[in-house]
Amino acid sequence: MLKLCIKNLMKSVNAFLLFSIITFAIFQLVQAQDQSGFVSLDCGLVPKNTSYTEKTTNITYIPDTDYIDSGLIGKINDSYKTQLQQQTWTLRSFPESQRNCYNFNLKSNSKYLIRGTFVYGNYDGLNKIPKFDLHVGPNKWTSVKLEGVANATIYEIIHVLTQDRLQVCLVKTGKTTPFISSLELRPLNNNTYVTQSGSLKSFARVYFPHTPSFLRYDKDIHDRSWFPYVDNQTKSISTDLSVNTSNTYDVPQPVAMTASVPANASQPLTLNWSLGDITAEAYIYMHFAEIQELKDDEIREFNITYNDGKIWYPYFRPKKLRITTVYNPRAISSPDGNFNFTFVMTGNSTLPPLINGFELYKVLNIRQLDTDQNEVSAMFNIKTIYELKKKLSWQGDPCAPQVYRWEGLNCSYSDSEAPRIISLNLTENKLTGTITPEISKLTQLTKLDLSKNDLSGEIPSFFADMKLLKLINLSGNPNLNSAIPDSLQQRLKNKSLTLILDGQNPTLEKEKTKVPMVAIGASVAGVFALLVILAIFLVLRKKKQKSSAAPGAPSVTHGIVKSENRSSNPSIISKDRRITYPEVLKMTNNFERVLGKGGFGTVYHGNLDDAQVAVKMLSHSSAQGYKEFKAEVELLLRVHHRHLVGLVGYCDDGDNLALIYEYMANGDLKENMSGKRGGNVLTWENRMQIAVEAAQGLEYLHNGCRPPMVHRDVKTTNILLNERSQAKLADFGLSRSFPIDGECHVSTVVAGTPGYLDPEYYRTNWLSEKSDVYSFGVVLLEIVTNQPVIDKTRERTHINEWVGFMLTKGDIKNIVDPKLMGDYDTNSAWKIVELALACVNPSSNRRPTMAHVVIDLNECAALDNARRQGSEEMYSRGSIDLSHNSASEFAPGAR
Ligand SMILES: *[C@@H]1O[C@H](CO)[C@@H](O)[C@H](O)[C@H]1NC(C)=O
Ligand SMILES: *[C@@H]1O[C@H](CO)[C@@H](O)[C@H](O)[C@H]1NC(C)=O
Ligand SMILES: *[C@@H]1O[C@H](CO)[C@@H](O)[C@H](O)[C@H]1NC(C)=O
Ligand SMILES: *[C@@H]1O[C@H](CO)[C@@H](O)[C@H](O)[C@H]1NC(C)=O
Ligand SMILES: *[C@@H]1O[C@H](CO)[C@@H](O)[C@H](O)[C@H]1NC(C)=O
Ligand SMILES: *[C@@H]1O[C@H](CO)[C@@H](O)[C@H](O)[C@H]1NC(C)=O
Ligand SMILES: *[C@@H]1O[C@H](CO)[C@@H](O)[C@H](O)[C@H]1NC(C)=O
Ligand SMILES: *[C@@H]1O[C@H](CO)[C@@H](O)[C@H](O)[C@H]1NC(C)=O
Ligand SMILES: *[C@@H]1O[C@H](CO)[C@@H](O)[C@H](O)[C@H]1NC(C)=O
Repeated sequence: MLKLCIKNLMKSVNAFLLFSIITFAIFQLVQAQDQSGFVSLDCGLVPKNTSYTEKTTNITYIPDTDYIDSGLIGKINDSYKTQLQQQTWTLRSFPESQRNCYNFNLKSNSKYLIRGTFVYGNYDGLNKIPKFDLHVGPNKWTSVKLEGVANATIYEIIHVLTQDRLQVCLVKTGKTTPFISSLELRPLNNNTYVTQSGSLKSFARVYFPHTPSFLRYDKDIHDRSWFPYVDNQTKSISTDLSVNTSNTYDVPQPVAMTASVPANASQPLTLNWSLGDITAEAYIYMHFAEIQELKDDEIREFNITYNDGKIWYPYFRPKKLRITTVYNPRAISSPDGNFNFTFVMTGNSTLPPLINGFELYKVLNIRQLDTDQNEVSAMFNIKTIYELKKKLSWQGDPCAPQVYRWEGLNCSYSDSEAPRIISLNLTENKLTGTITPEISKLTQLTKLDLSKNDLSGEIPSFFADMKLLKLINLSGNPNLNSAIPDSLQQRLKNKSLTLILDGQNPTLEKEKTKVPMVAIGASVAGVFALLVILAIFLVLRKKKQKSSAAPGAPSVTHGIVKSENRSSNPSIISKDRRITYPEVLKMTNNFERVLGKGGFGTVYHGNLDDAQVAVKMLSHSSAQGYKEFKAEVELLLRVHHRHLVGLVGYCDDGDNLALIYEYMANGDLKENMSGKRGGNVLTWENRMQIAVEAAQGLEYLHNGCRPPMVHRDVKTTNILLNERSQAKLADFGLSRSFPIDGECHVSTVVAGTPGYLDPEYYRTNWLSEKSDVYSFGVVLLEIVTNQPVIDKTRERTHINEWVGFMLTKGDIKNIVDPKLMGDYDTNSAWKIVELALACVNPSSNRRPTMAHVVIDLNECAALDNARRQGSEEMYSRGSIDLSHNSASEFAPGAR
């Protein structure tokens, strides 16, 4: 079989990553593109005010001095220079300290292509190739491995900034000295290369020119590096016509105008690569355009299949002289670390498959959070103000990762929150000048030690406002005016703060304050230590409690909710639920009745042991490995809650994967709201009920399941109603294993459901429980208003903005669904809208938890109930049982 085998390509892919910059074909010269937003550093370039335009690329390089304050400059051996571009001639090396970092002030949420270039060139005369690591912020990006003394090595990553500051760090891993030749940043559109989570390390970026030549700026306006691929089993074709490349990926013309086809037209084209790591996840971006003039009877059409012949994209036809980009919106992985894509002509096709270019990326998980942004900038300002450049460890993120924490700092760490600075010790650092107000930005500070310096000026009153501050040591600063501001006196008096000053200090006001102050100091310090111990104990206990919480422990307890029986039933063994494909055929009567087309495949009606079921056939293209599918199903089979659509069984029979769910006779909430199902509009009471039930289902996923689950796709079409109009949440858990909405996405579509997607996702590339809370908030707004989530004709397009906007005009009546004809409780409507707006807060920290949402919704429902019963009393007694049906708990399959 003919292959475009990236495993074989590895050498040259390596070469792409490790290219020696020699082969520069001269392209027809086009207008030089704008380099705006580019940062191109030639590391070690001196003097400070030089800059130059590199001859072969026209990129303007500047020295790196403004971006780093450590390291030594070096020059590669002259004999190597001739082959290499000028930005590699000098370098910066870091013999001192473990970690040294470049600092860039940019905008948070923006997406950058970051490229580091390394040429050793025996700059130190040791003739020993160094080994070290590269970090982006507090996370390890890669180990730097150089192939030869004079070979240029390049590493690229596509990264979304989480803060207004970007740090690229070189980290020592052994005895050798880290160095860097050039560091480049290129802004990218942030709706391209979107990942579910993590950043993207470039693995290969390939195109198919007749004459092999390396390609970058200014053919590529984003300055991505493209590597040529040629072999004797594929053929390169090209056109003279220009190709429309105006999808968001801005493929360069030379890439679009050439393509690869199999040398033997009857053979398929295959694309294989190995990430050599079974846990590795990948993203692939394939660019296609038809660049041959097709005759009337000619068709080029092919199936794109992925590992084991799963159809990834059927019947694909490249568009005439127009780039289509096909990619996976969710990461793909492979059980053996090998990825195989095959392009096979379909029966009707007269021409072989073609591809113009592709890009492969490996996912880099970003696990370590940056320190709180304000505290980072405060620390950098403190570093500048007190000229602490010489503090070797003061590089990169102040708290993270913990092993490289700045000397003199102590930080608090938690899994989900940014690290915070809790103590700062600058004793004996020759500090001069006044005490800087930057310190007041460290709002979590409990201890501050500025003793034995040469500080002057006043004791600032901002200390009094730092509520957590327990200890300040200012002793040993002979020139400090030790008059204590009034506000601070107050805090000393109520013993919430200890201040240590030199006893002999002449400006200390009264003898009286001096003595008790020391006493207070002693006693409070004791209390403080106790508090710390207590706090540690509490934290430990809390952690322990959390981790040992059995799935049976309800986390929401409220008078009006009947405590749920959360125990998952261990007696249900998943084997019993496995169903063969012939049984599926029988069950669905040969797929007679289609119920709908859902996120992950078509859903058919079926009958299983007299109970009705919904059979969801999953597309073969499931991007995940089979093992993950199995694991997921086992997990889902164990999740039982009356407000989650139960999984009754599954089928994995050869290529046929199906999930069998309990049947939800009354369709989804969206249909019911829109009146598409006929019948009456849902009453306010129905709506409250549905909101409460769906919230309970979601809360259970978050708190009742082990491991906890994030739904990831909460929306009105995933809230289903059964024959008794009980609401249940559908499609939970699945979104991890299966790409939403079919196989792959074409060009510009972004993962997730537009309108419901947590805005923080763009920054963090990560969906959490709070993302579900956000989506649920949107659902609540829909329930109240019956308005579309996104309506381009509306003054405010998104429902969140619209509701916010309408409320400023005053009345809740303006937003509540008019179809209710005023039959609703105003108080509960206000309350629910308030709750919904809290849920859709752009900052996830400010959103309530689902447990909180359930409690509030129950109160809303109770208010409305009370209104209907004409009795406020009932609410206050909190004894209404909303769960009118608790008998028929479990899925029909349990029978
Ligand atoms: C750089 O600065 C030095 C003095 O600081 C000056 O003499 C020199 O002309 C400057 N060079 C350029 C290219 O601006
Ligand atoms: C660089 O820019 C100059 C002036 O705009 C142009 O003449 C030259 O051809 C460009 N070189 C490359 C390699 O693009
Ligand atoms: C896209 O990037 C810009 C900066 O380039 C940023 O300001 C903006 O918030 C980003 N958009 C989203 C949705 O994150
Ligand atoms: C390193 O460079 C040398 C000389 O340019 C070359 O012969 C060798 O193949 C290169 N090594 C790799 C791994 O590219
Ligand atoms: C194609 O190249 C491979 C090595 O890359 C070689 O082994 C093979 O003989 C070549 N085939 C032809 C037909 O030239
Ligand atoms: C991918 O292809 C390689 C080589 O052709 C093969 O060894 C491997 O089993 C394939 N992997 C999958 C998951 O299809
Ligand atoms: C292409 O895909 C379609 C749809 O999955 C399938 O029916 C057909 O047999 C495939 N054709 C080839 C040649 O693989
Ligand atoms: C092939 O083309 C014929 C006629 O255009 C069409 O009816 C048939 O569905 C096509 N088959 C496939 C597999 O696309
Ligand atoms: C600050 O550091 C010094 C020396 O490292 C130590 O003696 C002192 O106790 C520290 N201060 C506090 C408040 O922990």
